[in-house]
Amino acid sequence: TPGAQPLPPAFNDTSSKLVFDDAHPWEPLRPGDIRGPCPGLNTLASHGYINRSGVVSPGEIITGVQEGFNMGWDLATFVTYAAFIVDGNHLTNLMSIGAKTPETGPDAPAPAIIGGLNTHGAFEGDASTTRDDFALGSNFLFNETLFDQLSQAAIDFGSNGTLDITSAAVHRHNRILDSMARNPNFTFVIPRYLTAYAETTFPLAFFVSHQKSDSSMTLDLDDARSFFQNHKFPDNFFRRNGSFGNTEVSTLITEVFELFPEILPGNNEGAGNYIVDPNDPGFSGDNTCYAYYKQTNFTLSLYPDPTDELRTALQQNLATFYTTLGDPTCEEVFPFGQ
Ligand code: HEM
Ligand code: MG
Repeated sequence: TPGAQPLPPAFNDTSSKLVFDDAHPWEPLRPGDIRGPCPGLNTLASHGYINRSGVVSPGEIITGVQEGFNMGWDLATFVTYAAFIVDGNHLTNLMSIGAKTPETGPDAPAPAIIGGLNTHGAFEGDASTTRDDFALGSNFLFNETLFDQLSQAAIDFGSNGTLDITSAAVHRHNRILDSMARNPNFTFVIPRYLTAYAETTFPLAFFVSHQKSDSSMTLDLDDARSFFQNHKFPDNFFRRNGSFGNTEVSTLITEVFELFPEILPGNNEGAGNYIVDPNDPGFSGDNTCYAYYKQTNFTLSLYPDPTDELRTALQQNLATFYTTLGDPTCEEVFPFGQ
């Protein structure tokens, strides 16, 4: 059991390059291989940028998203640890990118879940792009009806029938309205409030091949399907030129949000009855620190009284999570001691 590990370094070379290369062929799933709600990680696994099993360490993810997609180190480390501390195994440093599995090693005692990225309400949440709400269907399998709705938004509102900023924002808005109307348990607060808008920007930032059009942020629907459904790079896929990190994602999120700026964080109390959460900053205030405290407190609720190596690993991983905030305005907290 390796326990907590230090963060891998930032990549220096963020130029575009062929990433669907001979060293990274797409391979179909073998029995037992796990995929989940994230088309980015699913694709990296199916090309061997991270373990093809779908059981991976946070360091592998941080390296893989930089290498395969040129995700910025700051964004990669923050997102990875926000998910790992609630969904991963702190003792073995392994996490499933989908369903819970014994392959992540011996579990800590309940109420720890160690359920992988499929775990609803830990990091995964509602109003997803191509996956159903947990209360309405599968929260991790590709859903053709939702992809058709995404495609229709691209056809009706995108430039030349592509997924662009406008059509992606339309689909983001539609998915939220649909959850408000039909999901009695719809929950739309940080971290999900932020990741919902982030995941809308990711296909524009990461799924457009550099060879086709790097800066245009227009994604062909067959290329979109390749990632969302088949966890596969389109043929001859070149990663974007230059990294896309915290600065870039917040700029693009703002563009998406401001096309439909009326939705505030909150949750349904019964279908069609959406109640705004006045304490959640959403896109105002210090939402990074709010997310940090929330994920940290959720971790503490999963591990109320850890001992020995588990406590040490939790201390180390929470300290690592704090460092991923960069230069925050909030104080570090030490719920497991220092
Ligand atoms: C969705 C995890 C990086 C693209 C998700 C979800 C999780 C996740 C748990 C499900 C959220 C939900 O819809 O309820 C992660 C982690 C990453 C990561 C831990 C580590 C850095 C990436 C990258 C890309 C990406 C690099 C693109 C290249 C997406 C997209 C969705 C998504 C497009 C929406 C899926 C859908 O509903 O159709 N991710 N992700 N992610 N992720 Fe990732
Ligand atoms: Mg979801």
